This record gives sequence, C-alpha cells and structure tokens, in this order.
Amino acid sequence: MQLKDKIAIVTGGATGIGESVARRYLNEGAKVVVVDVRPKSELEATYADADKSHLLLLQADVTNRDSIEDIVRSTIDQFGRVDILFNNAAVFDMRPLLDESWEIFDRIFAVNVKGMFFLMQRVAQQMADQGGGGKIINMASQAGRRGEALVSHYCASKAAVISYTQSAALALAPHRINVNGIAPGVIDTPMWNDVDALFARYENRPIGEKKRLVGESVPLGRMGRPDELTGAAVFLASSDADYITAQTLNVDGGNWMS
Ligand SMILES: NC(=O)c1ccc[n+]([C@@H]2O[C@H](COP(=O)([O-])OP(=O)(O)OC[C@H]3O[C@@H](n4cnc5c(N)ncnc54)[C@H](O)[C@@H]3O)[C@@H](O)[C@H]2O)c1
Repeated sequence: MQLKDKIAIVTGGATGIGESVARRYLNEGAKVVVVDVRPKSELEATYADADKSHLLLLQADVTNRDSIEDIVRSTIDQFGRVDILFNNAAVFDMRPLLDESWEIFDRIFAVNVKGMFFLMQRVAQQMADQGGGGKIINMASQAGRRGEALVSHYCASKAAVISYTQSAALALAPHRINVNGIAPGVIDTPMWNDVDALFARYENRPIGEKKRLVGESVPLGRMGRPDELTGAAVFLASSDADYITAQTLNVDGGNWMS
C-alpha cells in the first residue's frame, strides 16, 4: 500500500479517470474525498461498494469560491489534514476558430483553469499551514502540448495547466509540496464520447470513426483505459516522487515525446 493513511482530494471523481484514480487511491490505503459537480446520489451509487470509513463524497463545483472553501473545510473536518490533491475536473468543447465561441471560452476556462488554479492554491495553503509537505497532481493533456484548429480553447486551457504546474512547483518547493502534471493522450472515458460526437459534427464523420482513428494512430495502437492513468497518479502522490516537481508526465501510448 503506497498511500497508507494519506488524505487525498480527487476532483471530477464521478466518472472516467477521476473515478479510476479515486478507487486506486482507496486500494492503496488512502482516505479519499471525491468531489464532483454531479448529484450526490450519483456519487453514492458509483461508490456504493467502497469502504465508507475511508470515503467522503462531496457535490461541489470547482468554479465556485465558496465551494472550494467547503471542499477543504469538509476534508479537514472529516479527516484532519490533506496530503494529496488530484486536480482532475475539466470540461471539453470545440468550435471552428472563426465561429462565435465566447460562451465556450468562459466555460472551459472557468473549470479547467480558474477552478484548477484556485483549488490548488487553497489546498496548497492548507498543506503549508499544516506542515509536512504534500503532493499536487494537475491533469493536463497532450492537447496542452500543441494547438488544434478545432480545439483552441481546450488546448489553451491545458497549456495553462502545464504552466501553472511549473509556477506552483517553484513557489511551493520551500513547503516541500511537489506539484506535477499528467498529460494523458486519448483515454476511453465519457469525455471522449462527447469529443467523438463533436468531431462527427464538425468533420462530417460517422459516430465512432474519430475514436477509431485516434486509437489506431497511437504508437501503442489503441486508446488508453482510465485505469492505465492510475499508476502515474499513485507514483506522483507517493514518497517515491519526493524529488520530482514541476514536471508533466505524458501517459499517452507514445503520442508525444518530451
Ligand atoms: N479522456 C481523455 O482522453 C483525456 C485526455 C487528456 C486529458 N484528459 C483530462 O483528464 C481529466 C479527466 O478526464 P475524463 O476523460 O475522465 O473526463 P470525464 O468528462 O469523463 O470526467 C470529468 C468529471 O469532471 C466533473 N466535472 C466537470 N466540471 C466540474 C466542476 N465544475 N466541478 C466539479 N466537477 C466537475 C464531471 O462531472 C465528470 O465527472 C480531465 O482533466 C481531462 O481534461 C482526458
């Protein structure tokens, strides 16, 4: 058990990568606060099989300042401290660059950048106050490594995640808080079903074709599964990563080389 008795907050934990990571953290001995904007009843159904003494389920929107405060206060009330933040909640959308997209910009940047940054800031403050260091892992994307004609706002939001990860790592190093990112490639989650449907609309493809093509173009020959992110998520949250900070690790089947 690599995370025995550690206290972890996992955002976007209702489904996809967040759910896989929350379950793996529980299996590694951590106590986990699962945060998601989805209804509490949905979270309760998803985690019905989990050990309730190690779990706190919170419905919260990471774009909201009061909710961020509530996430940290509830974590401290229940478990007494916080050691790990898996900062994962995000939304996806796309639109041709010359089309109207003010609303998409606001929504993507509210969740993927503002929510990501201010939750990280608040959790880091708690970690600094309590002492003993901490581990913060921000979910970036291969989309943050280069732009895409149809996906400009999401790509820019993930580039911002990589940049904030670097700045925070430098600022928080004196507190022994390691800040790293993970950049997944194409992972078969509910998000990718939405991505596929959007590409079908804008590239005039049948549903499912984009998913098949992106999978085939990965050097390892397929899309990843959510559970294939959990090894990196545990490693970066563990003491094995004590001397690693400011990095964004590609977990993408070889799509990006850096
Ligand atoms: N799936 C991929 O191929 C892929 C690739 C690269 C990066 N990523 C990144 O990995 C992370 C997880 O992706 P996923 O595919 O599991 O996504 P997903 O859409 O399947 O799950 C995201 C979760 O975040 C929650 N969420 C959204 N807005 C929220 C908010 N304001 N407050 C709290 N929770 C909110 C959703 O309800 C959902 O449960 C995201 O940061 C995503 O950008 C995914």
